[in-house]
Order: sequence, then structure tokens, then C-alpha cells
Amino acid sequence: MSHSASLKICLALALLSAGAALAKAAEPAAGPRPPVALLCEYLENPMGIDMASPRLFWVLEHAERGQRQTAYQVQVSSDPAAPAADMWDSGKAVSSRSTQVVYAGKPLASGRTYAWKVRYWDKDGRESGWSEPAAFDTGLFKREDWKGRWVHAKGLLRKSFSLPGKVVRARAYVCGLGYSELYLNGHKVGANVLDPAWTTYDKRVLYVTHDATRFLREGPNAVGVMLGHGWYKSRALLLQFRIELENGSVVEVVSDGSWKTAEGPVVSDSVYHGETYDARLESPGWALPDFDDGAWAKAEEFQGPAGVLSAQLMPPIRVVDTIVPLTMTSPGPGVYVFDMGQNFSGWARLRVRGPRGAEVRLRFAERLNDDGTLNVDTIRAARAEDHYILKGVGEEVWEPRFTYHGFRYVELTGFPGVPGAETIRGRVVRAADRQAGSFACSKPILNKLQRIIVWGQSTNLHSIPTDCCQRDERMGWMGDAQGTAEEAIYNFDMAAFYTNFLRDIRDVQDDKGTITDTVPHVWGSRPADPAWGTAYPLIAWYMYRYYDDRRVLEDHYDGIRKYVEFLRSRAEGGLLKYSYYGDWVAVEKCPGAIVSSFYYYYDVKVLADMARVLGKAADAAAYDKLAGEIKTAFHKEYFNPKTGDYADGTQTANTLPLFLDIPPDEARGRAWGRLFDDVVYKHDSHLTTGIIGTKYIMELLTRSGVADLAYDLATRTDYPSWGYMIENGATTLWELWQKREGPSMNSHNHPMFGSVGAWLYKALGGIELAEGTPGFEKILVQPRMVRDLKYAAASTRTLRGEVACAWRRDDKSVGIEVAVPVGSEADVRIPGFNLLDVVITESGVPVWKGDAFLPGPAGVAGIQKAEGGFSITIGSGRYVFELSGK
Ligand code: BGC
Repeated sequence: MSHSASLKICLALALLSAGAALAKAAEPAAGPRPPVALLCEYLENPMGIDMASPRLFWVLEHAERGQRQTAYQVQVSSDPAAPAADMWDSGKAVSSRSTQVVYAGKPLASGRTYAWKVRYWDKDGRESGWSEPAAFDTGLFKREDWKGRWVHAKGLLRKSFSLPGKVVRARAYVCGLGYSELYLNGHKVGANVLDPAWTTYDKRVLYVTHDATRFLREGPNAVGVMLGHGWYKSRALLLQFRIELENGSVVEVVSDGSWKTAEGPVVSDSVYHGETYDARLESPGWALPDFDDGAWAKAEEFQGPAGVLSAQLMPPIRVVDTIVPLTMTSPGPGVYVFDMGQNFSGWARLRVRGPRGAEVRLRFAERLNDDGTLNVDTIRAARAEDHYILKGVGEEVWEPRFTYHGFRYVELTGFPGVPGAETIRGRVVRAADRQAGSFACSKPILNKLQRIIVWGQSTNLHSIPTDCCQRDERMGWMGDAQGTAEEAIYNFDMAAFYTNFLRDIRDVQDDKGTITDTVPHVWGSRPADPAWGTAYPLIAWYMYRYYDDRRVLEDHYDGIRKYVEFLRSRAEGGLLKYSYYGDWVAVEKCPGAIVSSFYYYYDVKVLADMARVLGKAADAAAYDKLAGEIKTAFHKEYFNPKTGDYADGTQTANTLPLFLDIPPDEARGRAWGRLFDDVVYKHDSHLTTGIIGTKYIMELLTRSGVADLAYDLATRTDYPSWGYMIENGATTLWELWQKREGPSMNSHNHPMFGSVGAWLYKALGGIELAEGTPGFEKILVQPRMVRDLKYAAASTRTLRGEVACAWRRDDKSVGIEVAVPVGSEADVRIPGFNLLDVVITESGVPVWKGDAFLPGPAGVAGIQKAEGGFSITIGSGRYVFELSGK
């Protein structure tokens, strides 16, 4: 096949734009390389590990293709400075596992640091070098380990103490509710903001572990804590330091009634309404040892919230980016509006000079009115106003601490003088989950779609998956969470985040097994709408499927079973009919009962699958049987033999049963025909679905052989479509298909229609889990080369390493580049486009010619004709296939 230079460039560009670092500079080293990307409980060198047997992960690297691990050796040491294997030496453990490896050494102690390293043996028995060492730090395991007392406090708390020797290691364990910042000797400790995570406080509160070593010194020291109200709506602190001195002694400094407290410069703070900061009330040096706190009150000890203390083991909320505004306008005298060019969650940093006592007001909104003033309708009852009162000394730079807003525009009033280019910066604040994926293709509207999905999703990661980040909600609405979970997993490292959220869900479960629409539960009902409650089984199942996380299934099996049994107790004749939201915000809404029954069936099926994974054969059989009964009842109740429709024949009503293969043979074709007609003819290739139907219809169409139609839907730009949002200026997904800006329900940053993001990766990027195996051990690479799409590139960083696919095509050829992690295998499907005399090469070497597989290139195990093209089985490594024909 002739490789035209331009094609190569095109492919290379696609890879580049997807950010896929597939190609490494040629490295001479042969054989297995030291493992990289070591994680513990999904986190890099985590602090606060509070389980007895944390899980370890590493990514394998190898110079050759088709490689895998056959054995590993892990060594864990209690002394990071002098690594030995005193805690655990796995020896040469014969196993292909490089993820979810459970620590099996001596019991770990509370409050320590452990170092670990790993090496592996490849399929030919060659051993790699040792990895660079990684570490994990244990938290406080038992309630008795906590010597600190809970104290009620005002905005500031402080305590001086003296250390009789040089500090070699210090840890701070802090739970400052609702939000807190820790200061040592005047310095803020750590980069987290809005700590700790929001939880159901009477069930669980999270503490954060900080490395405080470099902030402490021999002699006098001081600790200060600033407290905000957050979701706890009050201020309380539990804190404990474990300080190890050079002479081997350990000093514990803990919160108690001897601490001093006073109001600080934060005059008021509220998640929804904003923060008021009076810089005149600052107490310089308040967190330094020699500060005179004689006039401060004593903190008051109290029982504390009822919840158990757990370590916060997920990406913290941080300022992850700073945005320079695009424009500043002045729609009225003294009113200045900054356009950040992007809707996001966070706040503004203000830079100002002016007289003491001048008060600058910042207001935040997603939209502008026609006259250029802020439209605050869409944020409803959230006031979203920050106030800064100047102290009047030089340049003052300020940003709030205990609130956040969802906005694109910032309005300044009360500014002394005229603001300049430096006055305002946008600060993007969200859970610092790392971006794991990228997607790009030849269709610009889809690249914009990917962009607004990523912005919307990421700025709604705020220790829980929120519905929106601007108005008076920002709740963990479970329907939104389950709807977007797969998309989030392709785009971000979600494993630790969802592990935490699943525990949050279990925390709201009652004895009857019910859970709630929002978690933590503030809005919505108990029991949850079944399409919302399904977040519990479905997200747990995704954790297993995408991350091979069996522990989540073990930990939550009983809770999920209880939930399913609750659903069963409410079912009538095999159907579950109660519903509040159903196919939420649909253009044509189907009856809620069919959505609830669908999820009842889905949840029972998933529970049976979980039982199978966990070896609970009797449960698996019992729930299989129940699922069979629901399936029969579902079809009987909702299928209309006269029309061939399910229920009212809306797109969602026909999609749901087809998606889970509920229709018996004779009905399947009819329902499918009705759905196709509804989409194509009745609605001129438009969706009428709400968030539920939308999640399933794209995948259903794609796997039913009409990926082209799914593509048509994804690329539309008229109402209702994602493109319509984009053409109307969306920089994050909207809540509604409709363009609305009034005072009701029309958030402009609402990720729940983002389920299509998973479709971009799966259908166009071609990256899918193969059936059966969890955790990308087996990968299906099946890009759909539809309509006018000329190239696409997707990559996602899995726990095993990066999986990537980039393809391009023209009339007579297809090029596809694939990366498969060491230890994984892929089935690569390349369409044949009815070409004759097909030749396939891999990196220029023919592997298919004259209708036969030509063995040769390493890692290419075989090629077969498959429906409409070819199926190539490959092992790990990076491959470049070119298919050409006549
Ligand atoms: C939220 C949603 C949520 C819905 C359920 C809305 O107010 O913003 O996203 O799922 O209520 O009723």
C-alpha cells in the first residue's frame, strides 16, 4: 500500500490533537522495564489510608509487543529512608495481576508512612528492574487513636505549642467543618480548598491528612485554623498532630478546650450566597506563636457530629486553573462586567487598591441580559455575591475561601476607580480528578461537544458528582450521576471519587433498604425515583467493569441487595410503577412506570451478575429467575401488539426494552422498526429523549447497525440537539434541550446530557471493554467510520495503562493506530468497505493478502474476516495497520 505523506501527517495530527502519547522515542532497552505509575487505593502516594489491606496498582512497560506479566514481587517497608522489606515481601508471586493487588503483609500501624516498590517477570520469565519507590501513609485507624476533642468555634482558632527537638516527621489529621484551612506558623498547609468533602455528617465525617513536617520547628510553634460553614452550616474542629522528633519521641498536639477562638475577617460565608470578607478585621500574625490571644475566647468542647471518622481518600478540591477574562464591559455607571469566556465552577480573584472601608461587590452569573447586565435568573435563590472590604494598604489581592459559584460572567460594583486588565481572574475550583481521556475527530462540532462535556463534567466534581454548580442546588442528584458515570470514567480518573460516592450512598440507606434522590440527602425524596436510585447498583457495576474493582462489590453487595429487595417489595406483578421524574426533561415524555420497571429489571440483572462475580451461586440463580419474571411481565404489560410499540411508542419507551433485549424475537423487529421510524421520519433524525433515553439510544442505534444515524443525531445543530446548545453559545452542557434563560429550571452547566461522551469514545474512538473481562484486560477496538467522518482519535488512561485508537480513511484505504497496555489484548475491527483484493499491513509489513493471514509482525496473533470487515487479534504494544483494496 502506498503511504501518502499527507495521510501520515493526518494520522499523526489526530494522535497529537487527542493528546495520545502513543509514540515513545525509540528506546534501546530490551525486555521488561521497571513498572511505573504506582498507585495505592487509586491514588498517588496517598495520605490517610485507613483500611487494613490497601490495594496496590502499577503499570507495566515493555520494549516488546505481546507481553504480559507472569509474576511480580512487591516489597513494603516501614522505613522510607532505608527501604527494606520488613512489612511485606510478596516474594515471586505467580500472577498476572498488576492492578487491585491486595496488601498481604504485617498489620499496618496507624499514622505511619510505608514505602513500596515492585518488579515483574514477563511471559518469557525475564525480570524487570525495580520500580521507583512509592509511598502511602496510614491515617488514624480507630476512634481511640483520636486524642483530640471536637470544639465549636468561631471563624479563627489557634494554639501555640513548643517542640523540644528537631522535627523529622509530622502529620496533621484535620476535620474542620463545614470547611477549613490549616495554618502552621503563618503558612497555609497544603493546596486543598473547600476541605473536607461533603458527607452525611451524622453518619460520616472525613478527615484530611497533611504532611506538616516542613512547617514545624524546634521551639515555639503555632497552629491556626480558619473555619467556614459549608454544607455543615456550623463551625467545628477536630484536629490532631503526630509529630516525631529526632530523638525518637512523639508529640501529639490536639484540639481541645484550651484552644482560643475569635471571629476573623470572614464576616459571612455560604455555599450558595457567597462570602463577605472585611480585611479591616484581619489579625496579622494570628497563626504565629507570639500572637497575643489574651482577648480571644476559649473554644468550647462538644460531642461532635455523630458520624464515624473516615479518611478522605479521593482527589481533593483545588484551584486547578486560572482564567484571564476575555473582555470587560460597563453596562452602567460604576458597573463592570468581565467575560471569562467559559462557564465553570470556582470564584474570582480580585486585585484592588483603594481607601480603607471601600466595599467591592462581585456578583456571578452564567448569562447576560441583552443590555449587558447580569442575568441572575438561572441561579435562582443562590445570591452568589462576594464582598470585599478594603483595609486600604497598598495593593490588596483577595479570593474567597468558603463559597463557590458557577459562572461565566463576573460583575464588579463599588470598585474604587476603573478596573484594569489585572483586576479579575477566574479561578477554576473543582475536585482535582485527573483527566484520563481525550477525543478528537474530523467533525468540528463533535470536538466542541467533547469540550463542553469535559468542562461540564469536571466543574461538577465537587467531592460528590453535582447536578450543577451555580444555582441553589449543587446536589448529588443520583439520576444525573448514573447517567454520566461512563462518560466520566472515560474522561477522568474516577475510581477513588466513585469509591467515596458509593459509600456516601450507603450512608443514606435505611433499614428498609431505601436510598434517596440526592446524596447526601437534602432535596428530593426517599425512596429515590428508581431511575435515580439505580446509581447505587450501576456505579458499583461500572467500578467493577472499568476498574476491575471487586472490593466495591464485596463492600456493597449487601446494600445493593437490600435496595433491590426494597424495590421488589414495592413491585406489583413484576413491575415497578412508582416514579417521580422518569425520563427527565424529555421533549416527548414516556410514562414514568416504564422507566421504573426498566430499572427494576436492570438492577436485578446487575445484582445477579454481581452475585456471580462474588461466587454467590444461589443468589445469582434466584435473581436470574426474578429478572426472567420481570422481563416477561414487562413485555406483557407494555408491548402493544397492534402498533408494535412499547407503551406510548416514544423513543425512550421503545429504546429501553430494546437496550436490555427484553423483546421476544417476534416483537424485537417491530419495536426496532417503530423506533427507527420515529427517529428518522417522524422527527427528521432528532432525539425526543430525556436524560434516561438519551443515555441508551445512542448505544442502541450503534450496536444495531445504524451508527450513521447515531452520528446524525450527535452532529445536528438544530433543536433539539447538542449542536443546538453549542451554536447558541454553550461552553458547558445545558440542563434542557430548550434555550431558556428565565427564573426556573434551566442551568447552563448541567452535565446530565453528557452520556453521549461515552458514545464518542466507544463508537467513534472505538475504545470499548470487551464483553466478559473487567478492567480492560480485553479490549474491543471497533471505531465506526461513519458518513463524512474522516478521522478520529481517542485515548483513555486505564489502570493497566493507556488504551488508544486513532484512525483515518479515504475511498480506498483505512489507517488505524492502536495502543494496548502490557498484559492486555485487543480485538481490532477494521471495516472492509466492500473493497476487493484487500491487503493489510502492519507498520508496512503485509499481514493479510490473498484472503489469508500472513503471520509475521510481533504481537499480531491472527486476522479473520468479520462482519463487514476484519478482526485482528493483537497483544500489547503499539501498531499501525493500513488496509487498502480496489
Ligand atoms: C436537578 C436535576 C435532578 C432533578 C430531578 C433538578 O432540580 O437539577 O438535575 O436530577 O431535579 O428532579
